[in-house]
Amino acid sequence: MTPVRVLAVASEVYPIVKTGGLADVAGALPIALKAHGVEMRTLMPGYPEVMRKVAGAAELRTWPDYFGGPGRLLAGSHEGLDLFVLDVPHLYARPGNPYVTSEGVDWPDNGVRFAALSRVAADIGHGLVPTFVPDVVHAHDWQAGLAPAYLHYDNRPRPATVMTIHNMAYQGKFAPELIGAIGLPWHSFSVNELEYFGGISFLKAGLQFADRITTVSPTYAREIQSDEGGMGFGGLLRARSDVLSGILNGIDTSVWNPQTDPHIAYRFGAEDLTFRAANKAVLQQQFNLDSSDEAPLLGVISRLSWQKGLDLLLEAIPTIIEQGMQLALLGSGDRDLQEGYQAAARANPGRIGVVIGYDEILAHLVQAGSDALIVPSRFEPCGLTQLCALRYGSVPIVSRVGGLEDTIVDIGETGHDATGFKFGPVTADALAWTLRKVNTAFHNKAAWRRLQRNGLATDVSWRGRAGEYAALYRGLMAARA
Ligand code: ADP
Ligand code: GLC
Repeated sequence: MTPVRVLAVASEVYPIVKTGGLADVAGALPIALKAHGVEMRTLMPGYPEVMRKVAGAAELRTWPDYFGGPGRLLAGSHEGLDLFVLDVPHLYARPGNPYVTSEGVDWPDNGVRFAALSRVAADIGHGLVPTFVPDVVHAHDWQAGLAPAYLHYDNRPRPATVMTIHNMAYQGKFAPELIGAIGLPWHSFSVNELEYFGGISFLKAGLQFADRITTVSPTYAREIQSDEGGMGFGGLLRARSDVLSGILNGIDTSVWNPQTDPHIAYRFGAEDLTFRAANKAVLQQQFNLDSSDEAPLLGVISRLSWQKGLDLLLEAIPTIIEQGMQLALLGSGDRDLQEGYQAAARANPGRIGVVIGYDEILAHLVQAGSDALIVPSRFEPCGLTQLCALRYGSVPIVSRVGGLEDTIVDIGETGHDATGFKFGPVTADALAWTLRKVNTAFHNKAAWRRLQRNGLATDVSWRGRAGEYAALYRGLMAARA
């Protein structure tokens, strides 16, 4: 196996900083790639959490003026992850969420903040760190989208580049005036380069200039080539379809392992699913739900946003009540949705339980104690919670989109290897109709056990999927040799 060196560039990495699935992927993939002979180092911004957690950070480089203030590049590690940290206090030393202020609005200088990250990625690509000269620079989402663009405009020998789209909805759009401030050539402001509806888009930069584009499921790779799914980039992606592919995400099966999980009330393996009942009882307590083993308990763990379709689930609450089911929802996000669910919980005490917030530990209990996990997304590049659900014996109920389509086998599709329920179109009616079907299936104990066992037997790990990335990197290297 030829060794490969890859610089990954990501704005969040689990377990250091996480707002969603991107962090899970950026944190798990480097570890899984080791078995495939890929040495991956990840470049991330030096937010306060990162500066606290990264041990033994060695200073590789200092700049008196990096995008308007002093900066340093550090190398360090955290829980098996090899990291480069861009420590630029005037850009990153801010508490809380990496992208937004405490009022929930984007930091006004996000363009500069993430251009700075991509600039140093390109420089590492050119050999800034002599002990780690990457063969491939792998950029994740718009925050890293300028890395392939800088490498292109620098017009020097460069490593190969990969751009991975985790979510087409976040496009990194900024005013054209930024171009000068971030050191890009003015001619980049053209329709075949960075220009996007009168401004510039960092995502477009990555999609335009990366040697390969990937996204996180084969179905999403097809969907984003349509005008609707492409959210403005359908045409560009159709034009680049020869370099675009979908590689499914996995999950970290050591973090998500019901046999060893320290965050659940009772641990269990595939052979002793009866212990799930004890987790269900604790979950009911924690969400103020009536204690009942017979009522099917539906779980949700999600950002509350339009993407996730949770307004549709809110509309389907009368069906949940009428069918004698319960709901435990853990989520945070849009204020209207938060308030909608809180009102539903007040109106249906003991039946609808809601925890507004972001709580890693509780997320594990929802997986271990719910009978089914609902993901009613309008679009979903991959989705990770349904994969965790498969591993915890909670039966996924998902919409027929993106990675949900690719990772769940519907009960109607085959006789024996079904793992869950899929519904489409993505409407409240279709969801309500499916919930009735779920209720019937739940009360057929043998059928339900089969769904659970099939889920538990599904490989949701990174093992094989990391191999697809390794093959992609090697293919790029071979093409340049
Ligand atoms: P997205 O990245 O679009 O939010 P994913 O399903 O890919 O969706 O990943 C979401 C990740 O964030 C999962 O690991 C999930 O468990 C976690 N998560 C989402 N909301 C919460 C929450 N309120 N509390 C704890 N974990 C959450
Ligand atoms: C995005 C997507 C989600 C995907 C995650 C990790 O946040 O919304 O579907 O699982 O990235 O790739």
